Order: sequence, then C-alpha cells, then structure tokens
Amino acid sequence: MEQRKAATTAKLRRMKETGNPISVITAYDYPSAMLAEEAGVDAILVGDSLGNVVLGYDSTIPVTLDDMIYHTRSVVRAAQSTFIITDMPFMTYHGSIDQTLHNAARIMQEGLAKSIKMEGGREIADAVRACTMAGIPVMGHLGLTPQSIHQIGGYKIQGKNSAQAQQLLDDAKALEQAGAYAIVLELVTEQLAAHITEQLSIPTIGIGAGPRCDGQVLVFHDALGYGSDLAPKRFVKTYADAGSLIRNGLKQYVNEVKSRTFPTKEHAFLMEDEVAGALYGSAKK
Ligand code: KIV
Repeated sequence: MEQRKAATTAKLRRMKETGNPISVITAYDYPSAMLAEEAGVDAILVGDSLGNVVLGYDSTIPVTLDDMIYHTRSVVRAAQSTFIITDMPFMTYHGSIDQTLHNAARIMQEGLAKSIKMEGGREIADAVRACTMAGIPVMGHLGLTPQSIHQIGGYKIQGKNSAQAQQLLDDAKALEQAGAYAIVLELVTEQLAAHITEQLSIPTIGIGAGPRCDGQVLVFHDALGYGSDLAPKRFVKTYADAGSLIRNGLKQYVNEVKSRTFPTKEHAFLMEDEVAGALYGSAKK
C-alpha cells in the first residue's frame, strides 16, 4: 500500500480554501500516535496538555522543554506520515528572541516535529515572526490559553464582551501577519470563532469554539475516555470508553492471576521430555 503523505502548512491552508475540515488530535507517545495516524487525522498535536493527562500535574505549567522533546520523538517515530505540531511549553518563548529560537530549534532538531505552537497574541508576535523567518512553522493559540491559567483565573469562556472580542480578533490578525500558518481558538464563543475564521486567510482550529472553525482539535484522553480524571467538558465528545475497557481488562487479569486461571500450560514453553526427565525426573515433566 502506498504510504500516505503528511500534510503541510500549504495543504492545511488549501483545506480552508476548499472548505475541507481539518482534523487534529493530541498524542503523547508511540501507541497513541500510531492509532491517530491509522485513523487518518490531518495533524497530531503533541500538546503540553501532556502535563494534565499523562504526567498527572494539575496544569500545563510544570511541563518542560525536555518533556516535550522526549514525547515528540516517540510520536514522530509512530506517525511518519502525519504533520506533527509540538507545543512550546511555559516560558520557553518569552525571553530573548535568541532564547526562543534556540528552544524552537531543539523541538525541531531533537524532537523532529514539523511545527511548533505558541500561546498568546500581539505580545508574542515578534517571537512568531522570528521563528517563521527562520523556517519554523508556527501555529498560534488564542482564547483560553492554559499556560496563563493563573492570570486568567480559571477555565472560562473568552471573548464574551465586545472589548475582549475585538482584542482577540486583533490578536488573531497580528499572529497571521507575523507568519502563523494556523491558529487554535480555545473556549471562545461560536460567533467570535466564526467571525475570526472569516476574517483570516489562515485556518482556525477550534476546541470549545463551536462548529464554524476550519478544523477541530481534541485531547486524546478526553475523546477516548482514557484515564482522564478531569470533569467531563461540554465541548468534548467522547468517542470511546477506553478507560472502562482497560479497567475491566486489568481487573480480569488480576483475578485470573490470583485464581491461577492465567497463565496455563497454553502460555508455557516446554523442554524436550528427555531433557526435563534427566534433569528433574519424570514427575516434573
Ligand atoms: O495542549 C494541548 O493539548 C492544546 C490543545 C488543547 C489545543 O493546546
């Protein structure tokens, strides 16, 4: 079978132009990325939601650049035919432009991602521009930006009043002008997301932003009911109950080991009868 070609930033833009919705899912390791690629997603985001759903932190803030690189490498190994985007973690793009470029280069060279993602608007436009000019594709992220959760004061809908809505639109335009090839819109009202989507020539990828963005992203563990202990969110659709399947499988495994139902002879490897007999006597064959 011919190997599928990974999407490119140009392809994602064409998808917007032709009204072909862009599907994105997060993944953080080899098996999740392999399954995502097999399902045919257009792009995989190695999100710093890694902190919440894999590493057990209560926010994305403790996630380090080394964490992101380590997880990106395993995702890339599994999904060679998928466009892979990696989050720049907390405070890795707010220092000097040199530091930002150095950190972004590590994600591309050591992690082998195809693109980076940064949270923020006008205040990060210089960082976006510098990376883009250095040949690193940048995805923006506006609305609820989890790395600023302590400043925002909780996971709430953004852009509800006209001043905030105007600011978000200005931020989106600033990111586009700085060279971003796409923008995630997280937890913004449907009307604002639709308006920003119309105003930009680059694609918008929504999460909790309604049905009128150019694409959609979900967190792997949320979409599959897999081990996430976060409260169910209204904007998430759960497509499988992987958590229950795994929990039931593990309970059965424990029960079978305790009851000596597993392993049985069927799962064992035997010596030749003569060797076993000579070593241990016929009783232990
Ligand atoms: O880290 C992440 O998974 C994200 C998505 C929620 C867009 O940024």
